[in-house]
Amino acid sequence: MDKRVDTTRLQKMARAYTASAVLYAALDVSLFTHVSGGLNSETSLVEATGLRPVDVDRLVSCALSLELLDWEGDHLVNSPDVETYLVEGKARYAGAWMMFTRPDVEGWFEMTQKMREPESSKLGMYQELTVDSARKYHRATSSIGFGAARRFVKTVDLSSRRHLLDLGGGSGAYSITAVENFKELRATVLDLPPVVVATQEYIADAGVEDRVKTVGADFTTGEFPSPVDVIVMASNLPIYDGEVVSDVVARAFRALEPGGEMHLIGEMLNDDRKGPIDAAMWGMNELICGSEGRAHTRSECENYFTTAGFSDVEVIDFVPGILARCVGHKP
Ligand SMILES: C[S@@+](CC[C@H](N)C(=O)[O-])C[C@H]1O[C@@H](n2cnc3c(N)ncnc32)[C@H](O)[C@@H]1O
Repeated sequence: MDKRVDTTRLQKMARAYTASAVLYAALDVSLFTHVSGGLNSETSLVEATGLRPVDVDRLVSCALSLELLDWEGDHLVNSPDVETYLVEGKARYAGAWMMFTRPDVEGWFEMTQKMREPESSKLGMYQELTVDSARKYHRATSSIGFGAARRFVKTVDLSSRRHLLDLGGGSGAYSITAVENFKELRATVLDLPPVVVATQEYIADAGVEDRVKTVGADFTTGEFPSPVDVIVMASNLPIYDGEVVSDVVARAFRALEPGGEMHLIGEMLNDDRKGPIDAAMWGMNELICGSEGRAHTRSECENYFTTAGFSDVEVIDFVPGILARCVGHKP
């Protein structure tokens, strides 16, 4: 029997941008922060936001329907993830990251034109970074990067390691968290020259200047600081094409001591490329931002490692549905 189809899924997709817009507006007016602070009726939200009652009614209906808000009796409450990550002033506030790609919205809706008349360069948006834009950028990445780094040190035992090289380390989230957890470890964050100025501020804030150093360099060229016994490259995989990534992995292999290990953490596609959607979309994001990068599959990543000479290569879920971790050892 023919499987019945209807337009529901396609209609939802055609208007998926509406959910992003509602989330941005809710964050603009600190909706979740007000609700968390006890301004949890529509009357008090009208007063707190200065919006018209009809717009609070619209916004609250959307937020309830998107399961950002819920009812508890006759008052509003935040959903658990919203309460943890979208309330200003809370330790795990990640609003900066949720808003981070908002400036790209226009570009995403120019996708067809960008594909027809492509303009790209190897470093894409990264070649224009300044110290100020790097600071802003890493205010956003650090709001989720430190959480990912905590997950990394819980999953990977670095207690026998002495020197970590963190390629494209940004805020230094992985290096800082790793030296805080493994007392014998030192780390070097390698990132672009304007970025490491911001990195040094995170390192100073954490009080680990004596154990985490920075190198301002482009990881697509040149040899890496050596010897090191563990290398991490996190959350920059789709920025580059296969040629660049395999070359980085090959130079990382050379920099490692025998017995050392490398971890490539990023959004990776399943081998049939049927997801995760996030990995595919970060690949497309490189069109929007003007780099030559694309989404890589898990087996492509494994192949970069084995071609470089790594053994015991495997890809493991890191944040299921979002990030995977490819690990290999230098014999
Ligand atoms: C999304 S951030 C990830 C930062 C950090 N690894 C984390 O997971 O929190 C990507 C980082 O890669 C850096 N990066 C991108 N291309 C680079 C290059 N060619 N050389 C050095 N760093 C680069 C960027 O400057 C940025 O800091």
